[in-house]
Amino acid sequence: MQLYLDGIIEQFKPVAMQGKVASYIPELEKTNKDLLGITLIDTTGTIYESGDTMHLFTIQSISKPIVLLLALIDNGEERVFEKVGKEPTGDPFNSIVRLETFDEHKPLNPMINAGAISVTALIKGSTMEEKIERILSFIKKITHNQNIKVNEAVYQSESKTGYRNRSMAYFLKDFGNIEGDVDEVLEIYFKQCSIEVTTRDLAYIGALLARDGVDIVTGERIFSARYSRIVKSYMATCGMYDGSGEFAINVGFPAKSGVGGGIMCTVLGQMGIGVFGPALDRKGNSIAGLKLLESLSKKLELSIY
Ligand code: DON
Repeated sequence: MQLYLDGIIEQFKPVAMQGKVASYIPELEKTNKDLLGITLIDTTGTIYESGDTMHLFTIQSISKPIVLLLALIDNGEERVFEKVGKEPTGDPFNSIVRLETFDEHKPLNPMINAGAISVTALIKGSTMEEKIERILSFIKKITHNQNIKVNEAVYQSESKTGYRNRSMAYFLKDFGNIEGDVDEVLEIYFKQCSIEVTTRDLAYIGALLARDGVDIVTGERIFSARYSRIVKSYMATCGMYDGSGEFAINVGFPAKSGVGGGIMCTVLGQMGIGVFGPALDRKGNSIAGLKLLESLSKKLELSIY
């Protein structure tokens, strides 16, 4: 396994040259393009990893399924589904177009920015700080990493330049799809996206989903199998945005990407996988990361389809 992982890291590193590091959040543009790493954690807790697995990067959109889990725990599914739909869009992650044309002006799913912002608004806590702390504590718990924190420079950069997210949030507020103070919700959203993780952190979360909510280290049930199913279904149908169909064909298990270059994957009953490669394809997915996963899926016959 180790030799195989070392081999694919070397093999696919050059692919990064065909991609671009995200630049619409200025602070992300500073990342070195040719970093590449992968961690696999099986459901017995055995860890296999290779490449830049200690490198910290911001979680970005991979925070969406995690905050969705916390929102489900906090509110129950009925209330969450009042705010977001269950259907993929086939549109880019930051698309605004369907907010106006779709029924009830409700975001189609919580993996696109509009839906994720509505879900963030459901996190419980009496102050903005408390809500962020609750998100951070949840991530610390499910990654077994007490050092998880927000990258302040990325947060400031997102907050300063997040015009499209702000416009979507105000639009949603007008139609009653955002609870509470819009500016406060946006700051929580920008902070949740700016949380730093490693591939190992992502692999632990994937492994927890692979056991449908039972922690692989402690045996504690952290959320119900039903919530696990909801989150994995969204990951499978819209976790890679408008690249989700191609990913299902070429790789074939639930996954969520972020513009920081991370991909978090889960293979039911088998393992969690965390990948990091900051050079992205046109759709905002890690270009070399996709190649690693495609190879791994073929090699271990991991496709669920
Ligand atoms: O809201 C944004 O645009 C970013 N904070 C997160 C977007 C993202 O990661 C999309 N992923 N591929």
